[in-house]
Amino acid sequence: MITRYYDLKTQYNEGLNAGAEAIASGQLVIFPTETVYGIGADSENLEAVRNIYIVKGRPSNNPLIVHIADFSDVDRIAMDIPDKARKMMDAFWPGPFTIVLKSRGVLSREIAGGLDTLAIRMPSNEYARELIKRSGKMIVAPSANISGRPSATSARVCMEDFEGKVPVILDGGESRIGLESTVCSFTGEHPVLLRPGGITLEMLRSIEPSTSVSRAVLTQIAPGERPESPGMLYKHYSPRAAVKVVRGEEDKVENKIKSLYHEELGKGFRPVIYCPSFNASRYEGLSVRETGEDLNETAHNLFEMLREADREGVDLVLFEGVREDGLGLAISNRIFRAAGFDIIDA
Ligand code: TXA
Ligand code: MG
Repeated sequence: MITRYYDLKTQYNEGLNAGAEAIASGQLVIFPTETVYGIGADSENLEAVRNIYIVKGRPSNNPLIVHIADFSDVDRIAMDIPDKARKMMDAFWPGPFTIVLKSRGVLSREIAGGLDTLAIRMPSNEYARELIKRSGKMIVAPSANISGRPSATSARVCMEDFEGKVPVILDGGESRIGLESTVCSFTGEHPVLLRPGGITLEMLRSIEPSTSVSRAVLTQIAPGERPESPGMLYKHYSPRAAVKVVRGEEDKVENKIKSLYHEELGKGFRPVIYCPSFNASRYEGLSVRETGEDLNETAHNLFEMLREADREGVDLVLFEGVREDGLGLAISNRIFRAAGFDIIDA
């Protein structure tokens, strides 16, 4: 298969029309969103939906998100929508926020990996919204990465994973946020945060103080345990390099990272340290990469940096842990998973 690639900055109409036609005719399209790139299909075309699982190598019980551009679509595909959910949609849509609701049964259960619920999101990215509108469809889309790999925040990375496997790739520049959307479930009495993202727990609680956090956000699910979100079962965001997170008091973290670094070097392997810019000088003379000036920059750079470690042939990435509130909760969730929960308290 030949992949048609469009740069939406210079090929706005041509690219979006090609994408919309491909979706409407049952093909897959990779497209930009404000969180990460998605690999989309018509939500009503089962064969196209199945193709997503095949192309990504995704386990069939890991459910997909339905992307919409119109508020009225929610009532068409979901039911028993609590007021709390409506308040949150009003507050955070369009944007990096996904709600899990009871499905009305209009869309196939296969989209939700067999569950009777549906995850729904209205993205704010202008290209994504226009693609949905022009295709006339609701678009189901997981992140555009081979299953288990770090999510893609640029079209170049999508090409790395999917060139020759997907007919259309739309390049909309770098993803603004860089981490996948916040996923919040409204199927119980109170909202439950299943996956942290750009809409923080603090923001959710400012609308609904009773919002709780799934245990799986910061801790490992035991084998055999049933998580609230099937995606939490799987190894995620993993580069080929091993990843370790060291957290705790700053000076202790520095010392522990240095000792792990030298241990690795001594074994003949290639370690690299990932830390915020303001701490880089602590590791002078060692191989160190700056994740950014603040949490926003770190979120934006994280997935690309994990892929870069592989391009450079790094064996071990040593992460300085970040604070676990605000956007730091989402960053911690992603790096803990990338590390397979190899977390060291210094
Ligand atoms: O930002 C995003 O959400 C991106 C862009 C493309 O929109 N999409 C994305 O999709 O991250 P994906 O498939 O990589 O992650 C979807 C997550 C998974 O953890 C999945 O388990 C959860 O949402 N999810 C989907 N449907 C669900 C449901 N019915 N119940 C519980 N969790 C669900
Ligand atoms: Mg994903």
